[in-house]
Formats: sequence, structure tokens, C-alpha cells
Amino acid sequence: MMSHMTTTALRVVPYTRDYRATFNDMMFFSSYMHLHLDWSHVDTWLHSDDAIAYVALYHDRAIGFLGASRPIMGKTWIRVAVFKDETAIMPALYSLWDAIQQTLILLQATDIYWMIFDDWLYNPLSRLGLSSVDEVITFVRYNSPMLISTTPYTIRSANMNDVDVLFEIDKQAFAPMWQMTHDDMRYARRVASVCTMALHGDEIVGFQLSTMHHHNGHLARLAVLPKMQGKGVGSALVSDLVRYFNRRHLDYVSVNTQLSNTASQHVYTKLGFVRNGYDMPIWGIPLTKS
Ligand SMILES: CC(C)(COP(=O)(O)OP(=O)(O)OC[C@H]1O[C@@H](n2cnc3c(N)ncnc32)[C@H](O)[C@@H]1OP(=O)(O)O)[C@@H](O)C(=O)NCCC(=O)NCCS
Repeated sequence: MMSHMTTTALRVVPYTRDYRATFNDMMFFSSYMHLHLDWSHVDTWLHSDDAIAYVALYHDRAIGFLGASRPIMGKTWIRVAVFKDETAIMPALYSLWDAIQQTLILLQATDIYWMIFDDWLYNPLSRLGLSSVDEVITFVRYNSPMLISTTPYTIRSANMNDVDVLFEIDKQAFAPMWQMTHDDMRYARRVASVCTMALHGDEIVGFQLSTMHHHNGHLARLAVLPKMQGKGVGSALVSDLVRYFNRRHLDYVSVNTQLSNTASQHVYTKLGFVRNGYDMPIWGIPLTKS
């Protein structure tokens, strides 16, 4: 029984490709898995420079994996966690958490966040000392006409050549915990079904990036330069996008935002989006050097 685990038989090692098959099996079979990657496939991510990942071994057999992304401005997210079974969770998590924290501190991380997609995480994360910091909430807008209001901005399609500018706007607009890497931005643009930018004169001042799945659209990213916020740029981008999706007869458009992000919620509700109750708590903990 894992609950009688002898700690001497438990050790943590950095993840390497040797564990790939075991990891994939565990991700497939275990009920205790967490996966939070917005833009990359888990296998690609795990073998990329962005991944800081460890394996917990008990008598040399893998019983758990934990992976965080490289911190951006001190903030990092747990991207992958998986445990062999329920009894493996706490012993494995405690040792993995120690290892990952030490590495993250060396990388100047100040906070770790964990998006809670599943109820099984509440108890283990409380025991690690994490607590609620915010919530991701979802809005949807069912297909219905969107009135055209006049806007001083030109909306144009953004292509791969615009990625650097979009990345710069994104970096300025989002708080550190929501920043994405340049690689993610490139990937996001590549897989987006529609990505548009708003121009004020010649200057690109905001953009949106959306995906399409079967009969619905998802607004995945919306950002406006801080100096231009509150001047109708976001609303112009979203209403143009909704009209684009309406023309394609999509059933609905969804979007996620944070409970604390009242400005974006104002834009969505004003344009006919409603909350659908699909909420995901975000838990976190500051890192302290011990
Ligand atoms: C959210 C964001 C895209 C909105 O773009 P924007 O160009 O500022 O939006 P608009 O000017 O069209 O509309 C903003 C509306 O929110 C209102 N608003 C501004 N700050 C607000 C606040 N703190 N709380 C409530 N409403 C607020 C404005 O008055 C305006 O309403 P109005 O059109 O009725 O006057 C922009 O603020 C941004 O880039 N934020 C950082 C990134 C982000 O949060 N992206 C969305 C995450 S999903």
C-alpha cells in the first residue's frame, strides 16, 4: 500500500525522454491527471525548453509526474500533473513539489499558479498551502445579429508577419501571470481561424485571435495597448469578430476571462455575451526562499 510508503524508497528525478512511455500511459489511464497547456501538445511541451518537469519514483517505478512552465516575470503555472493512483498523490506530490519549487526559485519565480479543472485537486493543493487567487469564467454569445456601430478603427486580418507586433501588444496588455511566450504566440497565430488587428491611423493598437471548432467559435486572446484601452478598440474587435462568425452561421462564440477582469466582462456583456457557469478556480502560492 502506498499509504505505508517508506520514504527511503521514494525519490524524485528530473523528467527525461526515458520516461516518455510511462508518462503517456499514466496520462491515459489515471483518473488523477491535470493538463493545462493552451497552445502546445503535451508531448511537444514536455520535451521543450519551457518545461520544468520531475518524476517521482517509488522503488524505481514512476508513480507521479509534475511539470511547470518556465517563469515569465516571476509567474509560473503547473502545466502537467499525473499520479498513478489515489494513494500515490500525496507522497509523490510532496516530493515533486519540493523539487520543482527549488528549481523555480533558482529561475527567479515568485508565484506558482494552478488552474483547477477537477475536484480531486482541492484537497492535495490545500495541503500544499495553495489557496484561491482568482477564477476563470466563461461567457458565450449565441448567434444573433450584432448591430454595426461606427468606429474610428480599421480592422484588418493579421498574418504571421504581424506576430512580433501582436506579441508586443500582448506583453504590454496582460498582467505577468497571463503572459504568453513568443513561441506560443506564433503557434496561436498559426492555428487561429481568425486573427484580426485594430489600426488607429497606421498604428496597430489591439488584436484578437480566435479558433473554430465544429459549429462554434472561441475568442482565445484579446489585447489592447494600455494607452488605448477604454477607447472602444476592444469592442470594435469583438463586434467585428462576432459578425464574422455570424456570417459563417456558427451556433455560438465563447470566451474566457477572469472574475477580477471587470473591464473585459463589461465589453462582453455589452455585446450580448452571457456567463454560462463554466468556471475554473485559480489557486496559487507565493514562493519563499527557505
Ligand atoms: C479587456 C480589453 C481587451 C478591453 O479593450 P478596450 O479597448 O479597453 O475596451 P473598450 O474601450 O471597447 O471597452 C471597455 C469598456 O469597459 C469599461 N471599463 C473600463 N474599465 C473598467 C473596469 N475596471 N470595470 C468595468 N468596466 C470598465 C469602459 O468604460 C468601456 O465601457 P463602455 O464601452 O460602455 O464605455 C483591454 O482592456 C485589455 O487589453 N486588457 C488587458 C488584457 C485583457 O484583459 N484581455 C481580455 C482577457 S480575456
